[in-house]
Parts: sequence; C-alpha cells; structure tokens
Amino acid sequence: MRTIKDTNEETVLKLENVSKNFGGIQAVDDFSFEVKKGELRCLIGPNGAGKTTVFNLITGVYPVSEGKIIYKGEDITKMPAYKRSRNGIAIKMQIPGVYESLTLRDNLKIACYNFLTPHCKRRELEKAVDELIAMVGLESLGDPIVGNLSHGQQQWLEIAMTLAAKPDLLLLDELAAGFGPEETAFTAKLVKMLHEQGLTILFIDHDMDFVREIAQKVTVMHFGKKFAEGEMSDIEQNEDVQTIYLGRSQGGDN
Ligand SMILES: Nc1ncnc2c1ncn2[C@@H]1O[C@H](COP(=O)(O)OP(=O)(O)OP(=O)(O)O)[C@@H](O)[C@H]1O
Ligand SMILES: [Mg+2]
Repeated sequence: MRTIKDTNEETVLKLENVSKNFGGIQAVDDFSFEVKKGELRCLIGPNGAGKTTVFNLITGVYPVSEGKIIYKGEDITKMPAYKRSRNGIAIKMQIPGVYESLTLRDNLKIACYNFLTPHCKRRELEKAVDELIAMVGLESLGDPIVGNLSHGQQQWLEIAMTLAAKPDLLLLDELAAGFGPEETAFTAKLVKMLHEQGLTILFIDHDMDFVREIAQKVTVMHFGKKFAEGEMSDIEQNEDVQTIYLGRSQGGDN
C-alpha cells in the first residue's frame, strides 16, 4: 500500500548533501543530485567511488550519516527500506537474486505474491506472471529451472521480478557486468523499452558503450563526491573525468 501519493512533482528523487561513513571510510561525501520524472540517468565512477552505497542509501539498506533523501516531494530519510519498496523504489542488485532451484514462473510468482493481495486468485497470479514475462521479452524461454539459465537470462528474469512491484523508480546496479556483446545489446534494448513505458531509471555501469547507448544524463562520482555531471558526450570529453575514470594519464599516453 503506497503512502506517498503521485504528485506533479517533476523531481522523483533528490539527495541533499548526503554523506555516509563506515567507521573511518567516507563512502559518500556531501553528495547532492536529482533524478527527474521519466529520466534515464547513469551514475559512473571508479571502483570504490561510492555508487553502490548511494543506491543502498536510496533504498534504505543503510541509514545516511548526514543529509536528506526526498522522494516525490516527501522526506524519506528515516523511512524503513520495506516502506520505500512499497512506495515504488525498486532495485536490481548486481548479483542475481533469483531462486535457482525453482522454475522461471515460480520465481515470478514469489515476486508477485509480495505485491498482490494474499488471497488473489490463481488466474490473477498467472496473468500477472504472463505480463511480466512479456515486459522483458522472455516468452521464448518457457518455464525452465532457473539454475539452468544463462547469467544474462537470470539478470533479465530478476528485472521482471523487480517490476512485480510496479515501481516508479528503478535502480539497476551494474546490470551489464560480465555480458558479451549480444547480451549487452539485448539489455540496452530492454532498459530503453522500460524507460519508454514511462519508468524513471537510475543505473550504475562501468561499460561505457552500454552507458553511451542508453543514458541521457550522466553523474560522475569520485571519492564519494559528485565530480561531474552532464550529457555523456560532454562527460567523455571532460579531461578530468578521463583522468580519474577512463584511466588516461594527464600526459595522454595511455
Ligand atoms: N558495508 C560497508 N562497510 C564498510 N565499508 C563499506 C561498506 N560498503 C561500502 N564500503 C566502502 O565504501 C566505499 C564505496 O564503496 P561502493 O561499494 O559504494 O563503491 P562503488 O562505487 O559501488 O564501487 P564499484 O564500482 O567497485 O562497485 C569503498 O571504500 C567500500 O569499501
Ligand atoms: Mg558498486
């Protein structure tokens, strides 16, 4: 049951001066940024920059050390994770969180159970599962045991599982990691399709071809701080970003 109502708020998510420290490690440092309704935004940055921690703060896995998180105009800084999920914030983490010994449809049924009423009719459940399979284009797979699927197929299945929550904001952490070109292309198509259906998406990725293919706007993190922000074409030209992220030395010789 959603407690945060849809408003005409243009900004779906706003982080205001958010910091997170783990003991002596400053994982996120005075980080502010916004995601607009309907945006397809990417967060990039070197390993350890604080990207996944930002996701964990948005979903409520960790409390912030300082700062505020605003979602659809409401302050959710102190809201527990399960309520954020109920209010439409969904995450697909990097490692597939599927049930390998169950079939594809049973995985989706479990995801649906969480968001349909406990006494929903079997027909209603099967229909919800059909819709999710169609949304991610996995109809041709049938209903195999999930442990027999490829890494990519498991990742796409889990996207379908997150969609059972009917999210308004979808977070995707390194979805394309370890993919070959064909899987990356399918994933890019899938993310673009979900975005065209109206979903606001924030994703993290290190695969610059994938980012270039789908992101509208890119935010770069470095040492927990916002380092740069803009269109991917501008970000790629930014020499400071090249230096910290793309591994090019300032002398330009590697
Ligand atoms: N639960 C935790 N306890 C202690 N330190 C943590 C914890 N989570 C993250 N960190 C530290 O915070 C920093 C940021 O980590 P984070 O995982 O957010 O980086 P990242 O940008 O996602 O990196 P990558 O690209 O490698 O996934 C790192 O120094 C990491 O070791
Ligand atoms: Mg990470």
